[in-house]
Amino acid sequence: MDISIMFKILPILSLITFVIGTTSTSICRRNETILDCRNTGLKDIPYIPELPGTVTHLDFSFNQIRVVSPFNLPHPSSVVEVYLAHNNINTIVRGAFDDMTKLEVLDLSYNQINGSSLHIETYKYEIGHFENIKRLILKGNHLGKLERLTFTAYGFSTLEHLDLSSCSLDTLEHLSIDNLARLKHLNLSFNHLSKFEALSLEGLSELEVLDLSHNEFSILNEMSRLVSLKTLYLDSNKLEAIKENIFKPLFNLKMLSLKGNMFRTLYPYLLPLDSHIIKDIRLDDNPWHCDCRMRWLVEDKTDDIIFRDFKLKCEFPSRYRGKNVFDIRSKDLTCYADYSRLILLLTLFIIVCFMLVGIVWFIRANRKYLKHLRCCDKKGGEYAAVYHHEDDGNGEGKDDQVNIIITTTEDDSLLNNEETTATEDVKLQYSDD
Ligand SMILES: *[C@@H]1O[C@H](CO)[C@@H](O)[C@H](O)[C@H]1NC(C)=O
Ligand SMILES: *[C@@H]1O[C@H](CO)[C@@H](O)[C@H](O)[C@H]1NC(C)=O
Ligand SMILES: *[C@@H]1O[C@H](CO)[C@@H](O)[C@H](O)[C@H]1NC(C)=O
Repeated sequence: MDISIMFKILPILSLITFVIGTTSTSICRRNETILDCRNTGLKDIPYIPELPGTVTHLDFSFNQIRVVSPFNLPHPSSVVEVYLAHNNINTIVRGAFDDMTKLEVLDLSYNQINGSSLHIETYKYEIGHFENIKRLILKGNHLGKLERLTFTAYGFSTLEHLDLSSCSLDTLEHLSIDNLARLKHLNLSFNHLSKFEALSLEGLSELEVLDLSHNEFSILNEMSRLVSLKTLYLDSNKLEAIKENIFKPLFNLKMLSLKGNMFRTLYPYLLPLDSHIIKDIRLDDNPWHCDCRMRWLVEDKTDDIIFRDFKLKCEFPSRYRGKNVFDIRSKDLTCYADYSRLILLLTLFIIVCFMLVGIVWFIRANRKYLKHLRCCDKKGGEYAAVYHHEDDGNGEGKDDQVNIIITTTEDDSLLNNEETTATEDVKLQYSDD
């Protein structure tokens, strides 16, 4: 065999021995900076004795790891990013990341970490102490709730980016996300939060982006004092109302997004319009009622109102349904239509009431007269003759008498074979022979 061929094969051979050496059950790929063990059927963190110090990224995503035990690395302090997404992790052994003193990114998304196992008492011993962590991704774990002091100073003082989206969160306790003095980006979207408590996010003085979209807020009553906040997403909640001037303390806010909520009427005092910093307010996809209360939006021509570029589609009244409120002339934004319809309905109702009362009164007042009319009509009408054979009990020799009583059919007594006492009845008597 030619020596040059040997030289060509050698690196390939050494790569193969490295790959086999890393783990007995799965094959990871690696280059100078990345160890890629994605989708290799791993059940545990593999033993990697020969990993060179140049490798900074470890990717163990898409495996079946349940327990994260301490990594057995020759150069743990070289590692900057660890990806453990899409595993079955429910336990992180005490001090698992302790040796990775330069770790900046930890992705634990889509695992089975629960909320109580994140709580400080357990947490500070379990996940361990981070010196340089900047980005923690917990997205897609079924956390349920975040208890008080879950992220306190221990190990998280350097955190800048915290992703808690899709974590089934329904409660944020006071101070649950507290003391993260460097946090810039907090994602709480796709949870079940329904009540926003200012105190739960207090002390995030560096926070710039807060995503609270796809939750279940219907009313916003308070807002934390987030003095650095630039971008606030509240899209796709069920918001109908916001307390007055609630966004005022956010005096660095540049973008506010309220798309896909249940707002019907926009009052100027709801939005931080007097702020000179805000440049972008998004209000699309709300069921706007385009009436006189929305006139200020269209009329205010002096200010360069930021939401002018957006479509505020009217839902009501029906004649404007689907129209953009900015395409309607301000004089056509009336509340008159609603009132006139109301007045019409009221008038109709009153008229109907009067008519009913009139009819009842008429019937009552004329009842006697009507009765009289009825009785006299009948009187002149049908007559019935009732033959009444009177037997005085003295045998047949006596003169039999037949009484014919003529009466009106109304007189039931005769038909029932009773004696009548009617005075008006005419009695005819005559002899039989
Ligand atoms: C290592 O591989 C990744 C992609 O898997 C690539 O982005 C990166 O540039 C590679 N690094 C080197 C030093 O070749
Ligand atoms: C959450 O984790 C803790 C500690 O790991 C455990 O005791 C608890 O039972 C778990 N809760 C649920 C709902 O799985
Ligand atoms: C927050 O997370 C959701 C879902 O993971 C994502 O779609 C969204 O873009 C994130 N928000 C920000 C501001 O990055």
